[in-house]
Amino acid sequence: MEFDTRLIHGYPVFDEHTGASSIPKYQASTFMQKDLDEVGEYRYTRFGNPTITALEKGIAAIENGGKFGFAFASGMAAISAVLLNFKAGDHLVLCENIYGGTFQLVTQVMRDFEISATFVDETDPAAWEAAIQPNTRAFYLETPSNPLLSITDIKTVAAIAKRHGLATIIDNTFMTPDLQSPLLLGADVVIHSATKFINGHSDVVAGLVITSDAAWAAKLRQKQAVLGGILGPEDAWLVMRGMKTLGLRMKKICTSAQKIAEFLQKSAEVKEVYYPGLPAHPGFAVHQKQAKSGGAVLSFRLQDGPAVKEFCRALRLPILAVSLGGVESILSFPMTMSHACVPPKDRLRQGVTEDLLRLSVGIEDADDLLSDLSQALKKIGGNNE
Ligand SMILES: Cc1ncc(COP(=O)(O)O)c(C=O)c1O
Repeated sequence: MEFDTRLIHGYPVFDEHTGASSIPKYQASTFMQKDLDEVGEYRYTRFGNPTITALEKGIAAIENGGKFGFAFASGMAAISAVLLNFKAGDHLVLCENIYGGTFQLVTQVMRDFEISATFVDETDPAAWEAAIQPNTRAFYLETPSNPLLSITDIKTVAAIAKRHGLATIIDNTFMTPDLQSPLLLGADVVIHSATKFINGHSDVVAGLVITSDAAWAAKLRQKQAVLGGILGPEDAWLVMRGMKTLGLRMKKICTSAQKIAEFLQKSAEVKEVYYPGLPAHPGFAVHQKQAKSGGAVLSFRLQDGPAVKEFCRALRLPILAVSLGGVESILSFPMTMSHACVPPKDRLRQGVTEDLLRLSVGIEDADDLLSDLSQALKKIGGNNE
């Protein structure tokens, strides 16, 4: 079954009892037992719930190479449930350009549990290998990275990990299961902030984890039940509703993002554009090899850094907000939004400065978005024809 068909038929989308066209919301915390020693399939929602199970089967069906899916209350709850499988004395290697929340989890919370970390230039496979210590247990990748869209060669880096007996974990939020299939490239665990493209409507916070490894699956099931960061049935239902149109939305927004990146690249007011669909992007060749498209997120720097505020005010269509992956275009200022929790010196190292903006392209008409960007750039000066 092709991806778009799997989105509609590849998991318990329909209710087998009534034929209802969507799985019911089992809005229940507990499930009646027939007898003391007769426990049904479901007992208590923290351990499992039919609506949540449907979503988990859904994500396992659409993430290529996946067998087991797990839903969490947020992307961060999903990342924590994965990373808290390591123990005191363990060491992790992570990409230097990484989502701010993950950086904070690793450098603040996990350090308190004596799990250490080294951040490397994610674009250089040799840097990953050089960072391995005798106590290293895993590589953690995010490609394209947030917010600079730098690219890691998943297959090469996962092969290094395998050679050294390490796990490869990847945050696939920016690409979604539609554009990039890390499990087929050697990753062991894939994470998504489903808050973003998978749900796609900026109305739910959710996280998903997928693996084909039974040992990882058992550990994740335990973390779900014990750490307790589960997704509620209502939100699981909403994610499934959003997910049905993932393929459609990605086709449209990736085409628009490519046009917008090309337009910005030619604009006199723009100093630099970061989008892995542009041949000028240093990771273009690697990205082409491992993903179907450049995606729908791009970042750019204005020539005139302090004009960022004026530029944001001049834009009429993208909403100025934290997050990405919604049907509406979302403009973010990483310095005070996604990366606000990163200490200034680390932020600077990551290239997150006051002239940097990130745009998540929505399903609006591409020409309307282009003319909006064009008029806002004109307002901050110069000619961008
Ligand atoms: C790449 C990436 N991973 C994880 C997260 C965290 O997800 P959530 O906000 O759903 O907890 C985000 C949030 O922006 C993100 O951009």
